[in-house]
Amino acid sequence: MLRKPSILDVALRQFALFPQSLCSQLYALGLYVEPLPVQLNSFTFAGMSAYLQCIEENCKKRISATTKAHVCPDCSGLLDVMYDFQITDPDKFKQTFQQRRLSNDPLDLSGVWRYRELLPFCSDPAKVVTMQEGNTPIYEAPHCAEYTGLKKLHLKHQGLNPTGSFKDNGMTAGVTQARLMNSRMVACASTGNTSASMAAYAARAGMKAVIFIPDQQIAFGKLSQSLDYGALTLQLEGDFDEAMKMVKEITEESEVYLLNSINPFRLEGQKTIIIEMLAQRGWKIPDRVVVPGGNLGNSSSFGKAIKELHDLGFIDKMPMVTIIQALRANPLHKTLIDRSARLIRVEAHTLATAIKIGNPVSWKKAMRAMEWTRGWCDVVSEQEIADAKAIIDRDGIGCEPASATTVAGIKKLIQTKEIDKEEDVVAVLTGNLLKDPDYTVNYHQNNLYEKASYKHELIERKDKIQSTFANAPVKVKARKAEILKVLGL
Ligand code: F0G
Repeated sequence: MLRKPSILDVALRQFALFPQSLCSQLYALGLYVEPLPVQLNSFTFAGMSAYLQCIEENCKKRISATTKAHVCPDCSGLLDVMYDFQITDPDKFKQTFQQRRLSNDPLDLSGVWRYRELLPFCSDPAKVVTMQEGNTPIYEAPHCAEYTGLKKLHLKHQGLNPTGSFKDNGMTAGVTQARLMNSRMVACASTGNTSASMAAYAARAGMKAVIFIPDQQIAFGKLSQSLDYGALTLQLEGDFDEAMKMVKEITEESEVYLLNSINPFRLEGQKTIIIEMLAQRGWKIPDRVVVPGGNLGNSSSFGKAIKELHDLGFIDKMPMVTIIQALRANPLHKTLIDRSARLIRVEAHTLATAIKIGNPVSWKKAMRAMEWTRGWCDVVSEQEIADAKAIIDRDGIGCEPASATTVAGIKKLIQTKEIDKEEDVVAVLTGNLLKDPDYTVNYHQNNLYEKASYKHELIERKDKIQSTFANAPVKVKARKAEILKVLGL
């Protein structure tokens, strides 16, 4: 039964950093007799047990959450972090999440740890490595909506994270787990954003970061971040898929802790992209969430978040997860269309280098996400990506090329009538415009094809990319009269 909050309750709410031990003492003294109707404090963090479980139906092996394994030791299946959730009153938690926005507790300031009861694997708040990640806005994008044919479109901009991509939502969780495991060195293969994020979080945690990147295939914005954050940067000959293979082998055989999205703790953090989006919408459930597909970690975590929220009673319907891949980096789409039980790998090619991946590690979890939510996967061409990006940028929002697959995909799926014009759709922009300025400048100068640093990737050779919405810089002499002429004044 709830009672009227006392002065003590109010004080407890205001000082959200109140330590658990002090609360127990207050309990013992009879001064703090009942749980707060709305819990605001760090101590609500502890208490639920986490374990790892193989996702394969015929295995489902359980192992300790502190095992350094990224796949099942029995069958090599992917692992989930699972919990014995103790959530019986979702409305109370929704209220708590909202109240935490008024708190200055470092955990409450994070758009990941604010929702900690939904990813309760860390029982020691002092171990959390956070940079106030998440907290990303949802924008209404009328021009994008018009471009796609939708009545309304909302864009959740994960590119406004501390290191400029959605990876920060996952990395705070992954590096926290690395700290719980007393790891001193962390590693990942990356097309650029994972490595930038891991390098930053490792630096904050005082860990050594080693990144494996495909030589000359990542955007400079991302490479410069990893160098600056102090990561040991290994440029490997070959593509992302080869880098991924190497880092998996090396981390399996050594103390180094793997922080690619095959690490299930990373995906726990990325669940909060969905949770925060729903909280921002007052828990109004969209019909569909659209996300780019590369290594398929994000779509996997979206599926898990939606399923768990549904099972726990936070939501009563599941938004469809729609994954968009680049036309020539389309292993999931190919696998889906061919109804193959095995992944159909491809040699990936796209100027959207973030998603230039032909052998995505989390494909089975992405399949599961689509199955749970009646979702779908489709592909878009280089031309469609380039133009959609220009439209997103023109809306004053901006994103990196891979993120634009979402708007391009929606446009295509409206044309094919897969998406209804009236649908309530949220597209997730995954990376910041400034990650790959080369691409943007070349597009606006109408030479994305000729001058792209990665032009050897372009397969659609006969169909040169047209800069349909180019906004090229105007060369003008530094003379007032000439400038006024250009301005039409
Ligand atoms: N968008 C951006 C901007 C990305 O950086 C990535 C992946 C994706 C989309 C695809 O997400 O892999 O979860 O399906 N980048 C990874 C990296 C692979 O290494 O930075 P996914």
